[in-house]
Amino acid sequence: MSERKSIHGEWSSQLAFFLAATGSAVGLGNIWQFPFIDGNNGGGAFVLIYLACIVLIGLPILIAEVTLGRRGRESPVNTLRGLALDEGRSRAWVGVGFISMVSGIIILSFYSVVAGWSLDYLLLSLRGAYAGASPDRVSRMFAGLTANPWRQMFWFTLFLAVSLWFSARGVRAGLERAARIMMPLLFALLLLLVVYALIVGDAGAAFSYLFSPDFSRLDGQAVLLAMGHSFFTLSLGIGAMMVYGAYTPNNVSIFRVSIWVAVADTGVALFAGMAIFSLVFAKGLAPAQGPGLIFTTLPVAFGAMPLGSLFGAAFFAVLVLAAWTSAVSMIEPTVAWLEERGWVRMRAVLAVGAVVWLLGMVLDFSFNIWSGVAWQGRTLFELFNFVSSDIMLPLGGFLIALFAGWMVSERSLRRELGVSRPLLRLWLLVLRYVTPVGVLLIFLNALGLIRGAL
Ligand code: PFF
Repeated sequence: MSERKSIHGEWSSQLAFFLAATGSAVGLGNIWQFPFIDGNNGGGAFVLIYLACIVLIGLPILIAEVTLGRRGRESPVNTLRGLALDEGRSRAWVGVGFISMVSGIIILSFYSVVAGWSLDYLLLSLRGAYAGASPDRVSRMFAGLTANPWRQMFWFTLFLAVSLWFSARGVRAGLERAARIMMPLLFALLLLLVVYALIVGDAGAAFSYLFSPDFSRLDGQAVLLAMGHSFFTLSLGIGAMMVYGAYTPNNVSIFRVSIWVAVADTGVALFAGMAIFSLVFAKGLAPAQGPGLIFTTLPVAFGAMPLGSLFGAAFFAVLVLAAWTSAVSMIEPTVAWLEERGWVRMRAVLAVGAVVWLLGMVLDFSFNIWSGVAWQGRTLFELFNFVSSDIMLPLGGFLIALFAGWMVSERSLRRELGVSRPLLRLWLLVLRYVTPVGVLLIFLNALGLIRGAL
C-alpha cells in the first residue's frame, strides 16, 4: 500500500520540490495582498496574528497535505478516495477533493486578472508612463486600465496562456522547470528591490509600521482575514500542496521542506512589505489604500524616485513571476484528476483553461460593463476573492486537518513522515485540536455567532 507510484511523474530532487512548493506559495498573496491587508488592519498587530496563524494553523496543514499527497500519490480526489478506503473511512471524504478543485478554478480566474494588470504595468513602467506622475494621474491610469475590458482581456489571457503552456508540459518539463527558472530570478529581483528601497526609501518608518503592534485596530474580522490569508499564502485547502506532495520522491523530508517553504513564504511577504512601505512612506503616502496600493500608490512612489521606472519594472516582473509559479499549482489538482480519468494532459489543461478564462471574463466585466452588479456590498471580483480565500480555503483546510488528524492511523503517518515519535505527537496534537478549534472559532466569530469574543 505504501509503494504507490504517481502516473504523472515526480520532482527530480528535494530542491526541486522546495522550489515548486515555494513557487506555489509565493504569489500575489505575498506581494499584492499582504501589504494592503496589513495596511488596512493596522500594521504590526496584524503581522503578529498572521505569524501565529502560519505557525499554528498553516504549517501543520501544509505538512498534512504533503503527507497525504505522498501517501496517496494521486490527484486530491483520488488520494482521498484511496486513503479513505485503506483506513476504512467514509467515501464522502472525496467531497473535499471536489471542493478543492472548484476553489482552484475560482482563484485562478481572479488571480489571472490581477496578474494581467501586473503585465500591463510592467510595460507601462518600461515606457516610463508614471515617471513624475501625480497621485491623481496614476489613479486615472489604473482606472483607465480596469475600465477597458479589451485591454484587461488581452493581458489576463496572455498570463493564462503562458500558465497553461507550462501546465501542459507536465510535472518535470513544465511545473518544475517554471519553478527552477522563475524562483531564483524572483529572489534575486526582490533582493535588489529591497536594497534599493532601503537606500532611497524610509526603512525606519516601514519597519516600525510592520513590527510595532497597535492592538486597538484589531477585531474579529481582522483575525479572520489573517487566518484566511495564512491559507491563501501557503496555497492550502485547495489540494495544491497535496498534489505537489504526490509528486515528491520518497527520500524528501516533508517536515523539513515544509518548514522551509513556510519560512520562505513569510520572508517574501515581509521583505516585499518592507520594500513597498519604505517607498510609500518616503513619499508621505498613506498605506491603507486597499487593493490599489500596488497599482496606484506604489507607482506614484516609484515615479518620484531615481531610476524609478526601472525598479518599478523589476517590481512588476517579480509580481508576474510569482503569479506564474502559483497559477500552475491551482489547476494541477483538476488536471491530474482528469488525467487519471484517461484524458490526455493537453486536453485536460485546455478544458480547465477554458473554464478559467470564461470566469476571468466575468471578472473583467465586473470592473466595467457590469460594475453595477454587487451582492451584499461586494462587487463580483471582491465576492470571488472573499468566498474562495476566506471561506472555501479555510473550510478545505479544516476538513483536511480533520482527515489527517483523526481518520488516518498514526502508524501510516509516521511511516510517511519518518520523524521521531515526540515530534509526530506534537504535530498531531496541534493538527487535531489547535488547528480545527482555531479555524472554527474564527469562522463562528466572523459569522457573528460569537461576536465580541475576539
Ligand atoms: N499562495 C498563493 C499566493 O500567496 O499568492 C496563492 C495560491 C496559490 C492559492 C496556489 C492557492 C493555490 F493553490
